[in-house]
Amino acid sequence: MAKVTVNTAKPYDILIEKGLLDRAGDLIRQTAGGSAVCVVTDDTVDSLYGERLTASLENAGYRWEKFVIPHGEASKNADNFIKILNFLAEKQFTRTDVVAALGGGVVGDLAGFAAACYNRGMLFVQLPTTLLAAVDSSVGGKTAIDLDAGKNLAGAFYQPRLVLCDYATLDTLSDEIFRDGCAEVIKYAVIADGALFEQLKKPIKEQMEQVITRCVEIKRDVVIEDEFDTGLRQILNFGHTVGHAVEANSHFTISHGQGVAIGMAIEAKAAAKQGYCSESCAGAIIDLIRAYQLPTESPYDASTLCEKALSDKKRRGNTISLIIPRAIGKVDIVKTSVDKLQSFIQDGME
Ligand code: NAD
Ligand code: GLY
Repeated sequence: MAKVTVNTAKPYDILIEKGLLDRAGDLIRQTAGGSAVCVVTDDTVDSLYGERLTASLENAGYRWEKFVIPHGEASKNADNFIKILNFLAEKQFTRTDVVAALGGGVVGDLAGFAAACYNRGMLFVQLPTTLLAAVDSSVGGKTAIDLDAGKNLAGAFYQPRLVLCDYATLDTLSDEIFRDGCAEVIKYAVIADGALFEQLKKPIKEQMEQVITRCVEIKRDVVIEDEFDTGLRQILNFGHTVGHAVEANSHFTISHGQGVAIGMAIEAKAAAKQGYCSESCAGAIIDLIRAYQLPTESPYDASTLCEKALSDKKRRGNTISLIIPRAIGKVDIVKTSVDKLQSFIQDGME
């Protein structure tokens, strides 16, 4: 088993091992305690793994309840958030009980925000079941719901007490959803680890534990430096400025991972064109993205993407921070005036 400790104000462990789900009850008891657990999951994940988790909770002596949402981003909304709070109240949960998020980033973000708010904060445990959730959303304490005006517009920084990553659960992911997570893994390699970048030339599925562990170590290092996202944490957004614009323009028919893949390719190419990194660096990034059968070209033109990117919450007044690769494993945060964004994106598309 791999273990990564995140030294935030209340330190917590991320445990990574095949088969952890069946030991979750005992592990939650040892770390978080409490007497009752509210499992939040989606219908797909529930049918695959819900019973194994609740059996393990029962064996560890917990009272458990389960709240199941329909799968998909549309469920990460205010309605489900309020429903979970009412469910917790109805089932008489207290702040010393546990909310356990079993699923991908949608379940983790929604359940985490409910855990942060109910009784001003309950114990929270993440059990990620997508690659994206394993390497990114289950770690670092960003919780959120979407509003009509945009994604993740209401939320809180609220760290979990424990993250249990049973990566055997990733075996049931569709290729498309698995690939979405691969885009985030490539992102970590580009921003922080040239050796990981080389390692990714061998398929992730053949080295799951090492890859997940290295990604969460990178995220851990960034989060403990900048828990509340005021500086360094922005490097986790490499590829996301253009990526979010692609996603939003497609009305989310292009997935987050595909958007990020396109964003990383365009931002890397633009960085090379503007002299921040070599052509070979940008070329290597694009080749690796393609090797994972992820897209590298935008169906939308630079002005359309620029318009969407400027309404992104990463904008600050007249500047936007771009995450620019300098070499494989090293990026800089470059503040750019909004009027230069379109030509940057255009450079990445030629
Ligand atoms: P998701 O949670 O919607 O999961 C994708 C799909 O996979 C769902 O249909 C789900 O039912 C299914 N699924 C999950 N686990 C499965 C399994 N083991 N086998 C078969 N099917 C399974 O999406 P996601 O890509 O995991 O997460 C995306 C969300 O994460 C977005 O809302 C995004 O905003 C958020 N996010 C948050 C952070 C953060 O730091 N909090 C970081 C990145 C992304
Ligand atoms: N996924 C970006 C962050 O956690 O900051």
